[in-house]
Amino acid sequence: MLAGAEHVRDCVRLVVRMPADESRPRLSFDRLAETFDDQRSLPPAAVGALHDAFAALVDEGLATMCEPGAGTGRIAIPALAAGFEVAALDISAPMLATLRHRLDTLPELVGRCEIVVGDATSLPFGDDRFDVGVLAQVLYLIPAWQLALDELIRVVRPGGRVLLVQERTHMSPALAAWDAAWREAVESVGHRPIPQEPDDATAAAALSERTIALTESALASWTFGQTVAEALDGLDRMRPLFDTLSDDAWATAVSSFRRWQRGSGLSLDVPLDGTVTLTVVSGIVPPRR
Ligand SMILES: C[S@@+](CC[C@H](N)C(=O)[O-])C[C@H]1O[C@@H](n2cnc3c(N)ncnc32)[C@H](O)[C@@H]1O
Repeated sequence: MLAGAEHVRDCVRLVVRMPADESRPRLSFDRLAETFDDQRSLPPAAVGALHDAFAALVDEGLATMCEPGAGTGRIAIPALAAGFEVAALDISAPMLATLRHRLDTLPELVGRCEIVVGDATSLPFGDDRFDVGVLAQVLYLIPAWQLALDELIRVVRPGGRVLLVQERTHMSPALAAWDAAWREAVESVGHRPIPQEPDDATAAAALSERTIALTESALASWTFGQTVAEALDGLDRMRPLFDTLSDDAWATAVSSFRRWQRGSGLSLDVPLDGTVTLTVVSGIVPPRR
């Protein structure tokens, strides 16, 4: 498996593509489209809870949804299954191709999903077009994330909902130490992490400033983890996720990290674990001024 908390649960965040003309590291999901669902699938109970939350909105008469950054459809598919018509937009055509393949096996849903390659900061939809807008694990990938939030609010009608689906993670002390040491090891050889901005609280505060009647509900919680031995075994499998590092830099990072582990007091059977709480923050779009 993978090395630390992000790597256990969220390894895709670590793939950095940095165009020469940009100072901020960027993340492309193109190469991850085929493995994303294996690495990031939600537990069945969480999918069921999401479905029920979306079904409650359908029962209120909300029918259309826009999801910028929809990826492979982890969120869009439960929304479709609950009865929504969904516009699934993403900047990565390969991620959307995976969604399309998944929908091919779900003929009862495919007719209600519009798949659009596009940028969340410039949505190709008119004002007030949707009843609901959803953003899940995407704002931190967008430097102009406030613009993406404003764009989503623009395309959701007044009285409609904007939802942030957040996976709030709590790491055990052992995993937190492991994660920090791994970051230090790869950053010391030149890896540039994506800034985790906005964090969940900042995103919720930004939604609160733009909408009314903000609510927050925890839909499901689950644990994740592996032992130190399993995490060490998985280090090599992480290599493709650090393709901006040379082989020498990678080898240096791994050996300094292994040195850290041997001196850390974390023996091979120590669990590196944590919990995730799937949380939905929801605001109502106010009347336009
Ligand atoms: C971590 S995945 C989350 C996918 C989906 N929302 C989910 O929760 O399963 C982030 C997705 O956002 C997409 N993305 C990143 N920047 C984007 C942008 N500016 N506009 C649209 N999509 C973007 C990526 O291509 C990727 O598919």
